[in-house]
Amino acid sequence: MSIRKAAVVGCGLMGSGIAQTCAQSGYETVVREVNQELLDKGIARIHSAWDMLASKGKLTHGQVDEYRSRLHGTLNLEDFADCDLVIEAVLENMEEKLRLFPALDRIVKPEALLLSNTSSLNITQMGAVTKRPDKVCGLHFFNPAPVMKLVEVVKTIVSSEDTTETVKQFAISLGKTPVEAKDTAGFIVNFLLIPYLIAAIRMLENGQASRDDIDTAMKLGCGYPMGPFTLLDYVGLDTTLWAAEAIYGEYKDPLYAPPPLLRRMVLSGMLGKKSGKGFYDYQ
Ligand code: 3HC
Repeated sequence: MSIRKAAVVGCGLMGSGIAQTCAQSGYETVVREVNQELLDKGIARIHSAWDMLASKGKLTHGQVDEYRSRLHGTLNLEDFADCDLVIEAVLENMEEKLRLFPALDRIVKPEALLLSNTSSLNITQMGAVTKRPDKVCGLHFFNPAPVMKLVEVVKTIVSSEDTTETVKQFAISLGKTPVEAKDTAGFIVNFLLIPYLIAAIRMLENGQASRDDIDTAMKLGCGYPMGPFTLLDYVGLDTTLWAAEAIYGEYKDPLYAPPPLLRRMVLSGMLGKKSGKGFYDYQ
């Protein structure tokens, strides 16, 4: 099927980045938030990214106007009725997703694809609460979504070949490189990344090295663009905790057990860059 109109549920950090990417790749894009304040904040984030690119001379003002005209915010899922594809990017909470997917299934035209940007939750379960499980799969973006080149296309045991092929072509049209992963917790990237981030927190807890030295070591010793604590703050400590819990829940492998410090920081509202405080301060 050909994709012309895309919908995104959630206009937070990931949802806004995904909506930005769709709109600037030529798709009519509608993004939904739960209240006007969050919607305005998300749309403003996208507009300021385009303004930043225009100020650097990477976009013309004409392009910015064109992108803006393709992006529509809404508070109503009903506005998704004629979309060809929906990307869910709400909080990593299974109950929330299990409420959302049947609602999308009722509203969106029967041939449309329903995709989840979840980083580690079970997509088969999301498909199972719809009448179109063959048209449900994962499309996992990386933060910052407009910049990072990778997407994981996650095939459940019932996603059809047509669905995953269409999604891969869609990903390529967004300028991304798709890799295919099975619907097992963590897919490819988080299955490897989470133990690394968790190990850095354990090193800090054990006093093996300081935050700054661990970050410097991995940046300069391995050529990573960010050290683990900068990346933890960037991704969000809550997101990291949810991913670790989901993978630990599936495999019970202690490698994925969230360290006490991570859980306590999240409980204290220290979520990283987005809350102004994590392993570093952003005030
Ligand atoms: N839209 C379009 N372009 C944007 C943009 C946006 N919203 N934001 C930034 N850019 C562009 C900039 O214009 C810049 O382009 P240029 O190099 O051509 O001038 C480029 O992106 C890089 O931006 P900056 O110059 O501001 O910043 P850096 O060069 O320091 O790079 C970074 C920032 C890309 C975030 C880099 O530090 C990086 O790659 N960090 C690692 C990020 C990472 O690992 N992400 C994955 C996390 S895991 C995840 O998300 C999975 C989840 O499930 C947990």
